[in-house]
Amino acid sequence: MDRRDRLIARVREGFRQAYGAEPTDFFAAPGRVNLIGEHVDYNDGFVLPCAIDRETIVALGPPGDAARFEAVALDMGEGDARDSFDPAAPITLGESDWQNHVRGVVGALGRSGHRVEPARIAVAGDVPIGAGLSSSASFGVAVALAMSAHSGLGLSPATLARVAQIAENDFVGCACGIMDQMASAASVEGHALLLDCRSLETVPVPIHPGLEVTVIDTGIRRSLTESAFNQRRAECEAVAAHFGVRALRDLDPAVFAEGEGDLDPVLRARARHVLGELRRVEPVAAALAGGDAASLAALLHEAHVSLSQDFDVSLPAIDRLAASVRAALGKRGGVRLTGAGFGGCLVAVARREARGAIEAGIARYNETAAIPASAETFAPVGGAARTAAS
Ligand code: GLA
Repeated sequence: MDRRDRLIARVREGFRQAYGAEPTDFFAAPGRVNLIGEHVDYNDGFVLPCAIDRETIVALGPPGDAARFEAVALDMGEGDARDSFDPAAPITLGESDWQNHVRGVVGALGRSGHRVEPARIAVAGDVPIGAGLSSSASFGVAVALAMSAHSGLGLSPATLARVAQIAENDFVGCACGIMDQMASAASVEGHALLLDCRSLETVPVPIHPGLEVTVIDTGIRRSLTESAFNQRRAECEAVAAHFGVRALRDLDPAVFAEGEGDLDPVLRARARHVLGELRRVEPVAAALAGGDAASLAALLHEAHVSLSQDFDVSLPAIDRLAASVRAALGKRGGVRLTGAGFGGCLVAVARREARGAIEAGIARYNETAAIPASAETFAPVGGAARTAAS
């Protein structure tokens, strides 16, 4: 049994236990790792994530007698993680984040005039929670896809992503951008996804066969809502307002250079990160497709330093780990913090034969680390889809 089959078996069993019935359909949505373009999605910029084969699975079946929407989350506590609500009534907040992800999707669909039909779902996943690999987005997109299919809405990947993002923004309270949901909904197998976060246009970027993507888990966990994420977003918006542009994407670097002296030093540093990061996305996409490991080494290092010093979302342990892996890799690939930060994962994009070097860099770090780090290599997968039961 492979990883997905085991996950489907678990969610099927959870459905049976919760409702005493068989599910009729299964839906899957992956997590993602971002290669470049960090903290630029909510500044309307370009990003380059790729979907990984860790995912959320939703098992769905017909409603019980009361014609309500019922949900059970198998990873969220001791058997008690259930919810039940009337999908046709105004959607109120539930007691926990996962309930609000589900209710939020129904609420967001309702706002666009879509009605969700009563159903029963069970949800389980293997995207590590709090690791910066978008367990939340994969949860939201999987639920949105299940509801869209079950209610005959036929929503596009971009609409599924928007709906899951609205659920997270307005019901869970995280001011996240659209990158994670789009990566989960619209990725193409074997490719990273170059995404314009304003227009939602996507271009799949092939990964050169000589390169591979490795996720290095620091083991340090964080919660996005509780973190300084919303504050970072507000800081970026304050700079955009200061310069009278819609988003930092629209801020001309020359105009910034001229006017940055008037800014508070913290805001100046935040904007410096975003403007620098915006300039790195295209060259990283080109290096990824062209197999240019030396350019990746330089660009990902720049990105890490910028995230750590100017955007202030790294931690001393994460900087040490990145330095250790970077030293071991040399010009055979790059490594940097990925995702929102404040814990979570590093991503390395490196020549295949450098896998041993990455392991050696991690081993050296682990000799003195309080929490050991570990690595896993991923082949990029496609976006959310209905999946056959095993
Ligand atoms: C989180 C958010 C995304 C994005 C990244 C940082 O993953 O959900 O929208 O802002 O952080 O790039």
